[in-house]
Amino acid sequence: MRMGKWALRQADPVSQRTTTQEILAEVKRLQPWFHCIDLGDSIKTKTVGEWGEPADHPLPTWKIISACLPADLTGKTVLDVGCNAGFYSVAAKRRNASRVLGVDAQRAQVRQARFVRRVLGLDIDYQRISVYDLDPRQLGQFDITLALGLIYHCKHLVLALEKLFHITKTLLILETAVLPQKGNQIVHNLGPETVLHSLACVENAPSAKEQVYNWFIPSVGAIVALLRNVGFQDIELFSEDGGRAVLMCRKPSASENSRDLSNLGASLRFEDARTQCAPGEELIFHIRVENTGAARWLSHVDLPPAAPGVVRLGCHLLGPDQDELFWDYGGADLPHQIAPGNSAILAFHVRAPEAKGSYWLEFEMVAEHLSWFEDLGSPSLKSILHVE
Ligand SMILES: C[S@@+](CC[C@H](N)C(=O)[O-])C[C@H]1O[C@@H](n2cnc3c(N)ncnc32)[C@H](O)[C@@H]1O
Repeated sequence: MRMGKWALRQADPVSQRTTTQEILAEVKRLQPWFHCIDLGDSIKTKTVGEWGEPADHPLPTWKIISACLPADLTGKTVLDVGCNAGFYSVAAKRRNASRVLGVDAQRAQVRQARFVRRVLGLDIDYQRISVYDLDPRQLGQFDITLALGLIYHCKHLVLALEKLFHITKTLLILETAVLPQKGNQIVHNLGPETVLHSLACVENAPSAKEQVYNWFIPSVGAIVALLRNVGFQDIELFSEDGGRAVLMCRKPSASENSRDLSNLGASLRFEDARTQCAPGEELIFHIRVENTGAARWLSHVDLPPAAPGVVRLGCHLLGPDQDELFWDYGGADLPHQIAPGNSAILAFHVRAPEAKGSYWLEFEMVAEHLSWFEDLGSPSLKSILHVE
């Protein structure tokens, strides 16, 4: 396997002092390069544009992106999606970001990025992950996400934007090719309230042998509308020039967290549970509820009464065959809000049915007026109850 020699050198600390010759050989072996990165000793990853991009790509774009990013990223986490050889990840690390993760769908790009990291001696994590597989429960959320030159490669454009929304804590910086604004007015008969924006579909030639295809090129209006639709609140068109645009997209404030449905997750466990009781007996179940999602659970103390998003523990009463008898069979409030990774033990008070027989009690969390957690993918917790 071609990685063998390099991997061997990595395992041997004595030979880790890579010579200029070795670096040049590796640059050549990992060709072609899209990013021009200065590796020191007058070595650059490339000196000519391979696909019509400038020979020093992405330096000209970095001059714009650089102005969107805080000059000092100390204490901030940065995710670079579609990182390629890692030019922007390196730039973020050099601005002192506490954690930088670069992800790319293509193995060859991750290989290049890891090589650059090794030569420059930077603490950056690179993983081969597609934008569609970004999961805040596994990776955490990032203060700043970069999606530069990415979205026109996305066949599932809206899904990609949703994933970018959920993995971002505060700010998404998105750079893309855009359609020209002029002559973009679409005439329609859908009523005065409806605005249609242009979104071009790229028809790739059957003979095209691209590594990653282009799918959609949005107008600025379309991408702003889509970003707003997936949840971003404050979207600023930072620059538009030469058919490319940079947008800064901010998320709603943290107080909205338990309304961020796809970041809600729970794990429930009995601390104690009764399985036998008398008809109508008052029972108490102690249940440990753990926030396994990336969103903070807001409690009844944090939001006004009846506001959507208050998280509680709910219960359903089921028959012996687990058919539903009562959907809302009581509830227990959180004592306070619960941050991701934290848990609390709740005392759930419930009255046993008056009729003798076997029942199931099914417990699950609910974000009031929004969703039960099981519908969002978190398993419920069931206990048999024999009323004798
Ligand atoms: C045009 S390059 C842009 C690279 C870099 N962000 C820049 O602006 O210079 C697009 C990059 O996105 C990556 N990519 C394409 N589809 C992707 C996906 N579904 N998930 C993650 N990365 C993807 C490609 O492998 C490629 O490295």
